[in-house]
Amino acid sequence: MRNTLFTLLAMAALAAPLSAKGGSELKGKFYILKQCKPCHAEGKSGGVVTPLIKTQAQWKAYFKAAKHNKGTEKLGAHTKLTPAQLKDVEAFMVAHASDSPQPMTCGG
Ligand code: HEC
Repeated sequence: MRNTLFTLLAMAALAAPLSAKGGSELKGKFYILKQCKPCHAEGKSGGVVTPLIKTQAQWKAYFKAAKHNKGTEKLGAHTKLTPAQLKDVEAFMVAHASDSPQPMTCGG
């Protein structure tokens, strides 16, 4: 019983930063570079995708719908990203969208 409680507490502590409300831009950028860029760069199957291709409202709607590849599959289907990590990706896209205060690409 004590062990179970300890495990639960440890899991909660580890999960907390990932589920932070609104997501983490910094982590989001990292996940994009690792998991989205392989298909989303010049000459790759998905074409160039950066925060600049959509406005903040468009990105919010995109992540809310959570459909990818022209609506044919679930967003994140080809990635190992958890829903919390996708939230981080969303945070980065929204924060640097074309009409955001700090528009930018993902670099890399
Ligand atoms: C296995 C390759 C692959 C991976 C990984 C991938 N994508 Fe895509 N993505 C595609 C393809 C293919 C399309 C469709 C391109 C087209 O319109 O011809 C696409 C389209 C898109 C589009 C344009 C709108 C749409 O859905 O059609 C966005 C935005 C997008 N991807 C975001 C992402 C993000 C964010 C990630 C990482 C979480 C990601 N993609 C990971 C292949 C991938």
